[in-house]
Amino acid sequence: MDFNSVHGKVAIITGAGHGIGKAIAKCYGAHGMKVVCADINTEQGEAVADSICKNGGDAIFIQTDCSNPAEIKTLIGQTVKHYSRLDGMVSNAGIGMGGTPLHEYDVADYEKIFALNSEGVFAGMKYGAEAILKSRSDGGFLINVASVAGLVAQCGQALYSATKFSVIGMTRAAALDYAAYGITVNAICPGYIRTAIFKDAPASAMDFFASDCPAKHMGEPQECAALALFLASDLARYITGAAIPVDGALSAGHQSISSWKHPEILTDEKLSSQSTIAALLEDNTAKAVIEKFLPGFAANEQVKAAYGMTFRQIGSMLGLHEDALQNLTAELDNL
Ligand SMILES: NC(=O)c1ccc[n+]([C@@H]2O[C@H](COP(=O)([O-])OP(=O)(O)OC[C@H]3O[C@@H](n4cnc5c(N)ncnc54)[C@H](O)[C@@H]3O)[C@@H](O)[C@H]2O)c1
Repeated sequence: MDFNSVHGKVAIITGAGHGIGKAIAKCYGAHGMKVVCADINTEQGEAVADSICKNGGDAIFIQTDCSNPAEIKTLIGQTVKHYSRLDGMVSNAGIGMGGTPLHEYDVADYEKIFALNSEGVFAGMKYGAEAILKSRSDGGFLINVASVAGLVAQCGQALYSATKFSVIGMTRAAALDYAAYGITVNAICPGYIRTAIFKDAPASAMDFFASDCPAKHMGEPQECAALALFLASDLARYITGAAIPVDGALSAGHQSISSWKHPEILTDEKLSSQSTIAALLEDNTAKAVIEKFLPGFAANEQVKAAYGMTFRQIGSMLGLHEDALQNLTAELDNL
């Protein structure tokens, strides 16, 4: 159970000059894979390939505009020429676009974002699959970096979401095409990951992203890279056609209000009048104190709605005389 199986595999990563692509390229390089870093930005892409080589890895940079399918075909041709084979294609290059309702986008916006985020991924899969099949790879893989926006729509993201839904659709269909031929096809669906894709976002937006996420913080590119490494390895040969979120539960569902009946599981606090009613009623001594002041309280079905609250919070609603309430909380505080 290790990642030795990736050693020597040849993989292309598009958009490898920064962010998630950079993290995947460096992770692959560190695990003995032969890495082709493709990016439109020569300076950034070369720097990533150089740093992999300086750390004892094997990498080259090929300047590529992934919004041009002909350049992706050339990228794959040059890769096979250099390394004599291809085992994996990670189609990661993509741009963000958002913050306005659908009618405020221009047709040119549609063409721009689909050219890279959707057509670029299609070309990467098409020419990638051909080269992997011709290489007779016994551990071939296609990985597409989609987004949670390809699983659930977000307002202001009509075009971005559409490109990412298309990527997940292509991922699932191609998984069916190649399942019998040993090529796995999966999508990684990042949530809010701290990269340059948010370079124009104001600090207030970054704060919103962190608070919007159930995990209450943004993710790091390395957390996507770890999944990309697993998917490239022989440990994941039976995982194909999946769209896997890396998102701190962002796409798991809607957040709602919930209160903990047993917060002491985190705080290790001893029982007191600050403990929840649920916690107090589970303790026989505390239950006896409550019953002394409030006979029948424990058996009252309606009380269940308040199990996540404390006596200090609901005290005034109990109908107890002020002195009795103070005595109750004092006895609970001395448990
Ligand atoms: N960061 C996030 O929170 C997040 C969330 C969901 C999905 N994603 C997706 O992850 C992928 C990577 O995004 P990132 O956050 O790392 O972005 P990033 O901006 O940090 O990096 C993107 C890289 O792609 C390169 N690139 C841009 N246009 C290109 C083109 N035409 N051809 C080749 N390379 C090009 C850039 O030079 C850069 O190196 C994208 O597909 C993005 O949609 C990111």
